[in-house]
Amino acid sequence: MAQTQVANYTMEAFVEDVNNIFKNEADPHEQAKKVSAHLKDLLAVPGWLEEKLELEEEGGFGRFSLHLDEESGHPGNGWWLMASVQKPGQDNLPHDHGNTWVVYGVYKGAIRQRKWRWAFPGEGVDTAQIRETGKFTQQPGSVAYFLPGEIHDTLNLKEEGRSLVVRLESQKLDRVTRFQYDPEAGTMKVMDR
Ligand SMILES: [Fe+2]
Repeated sequence: MAQTQVANYTMEAFVEDVNNIFKNEADPHEQAKKVSAHLKDLLAVPGWLEEKLELEEEGGFGRFSLHLDEESGHPGNGWWLMASVQKPGQDNLPHDHGNTWVVYGVYKGAIRQRKWRWAFPGEGVDTAQIRETGKFTQQPGSVAYFLPGEIHDTLNLKEEGRSLVVRLESQKLDRVTRFQYDPEAGTMKVMDR
């Protein structure tokens, strides 16, 4: 995409691009990759998110809907674009996203992503457990996707001030059965919707 087009990219054009991907691409991994590339372009546009959220200079913590689309998605319709304005040190327990894929983009601030998976005897452990398999930091402009079934947790690395995170769920997660994991206790449970 030419530089001038990137500068003029809008959330509305992004929504159209995402709808076209769902229409033309059946493979969820390909969908996630293509949507990630467009989200990277959108994150590079200055000011659009503050404008959408009517965000003040400080605070404004919470989760905000940007676009819910009932015309397409994966595996069913109802993909969701949202923003989360995260408090210093805000984190969560490892969780999956059921049968959906999810794209995380950092607009401002920084978050740590950790990935986890079950390990069983024969894989270097004596008892079945949830183990961390890797971590990385997302800085502004960084996009990462998580495929159906993957387990991760997030942490806002900003010790003062907020991080602004944009997330696209291929089907709105409150419609999806998924699990939350406690690595210390070795337990899992269905997440509240
Ligand atoms: Fe997640």
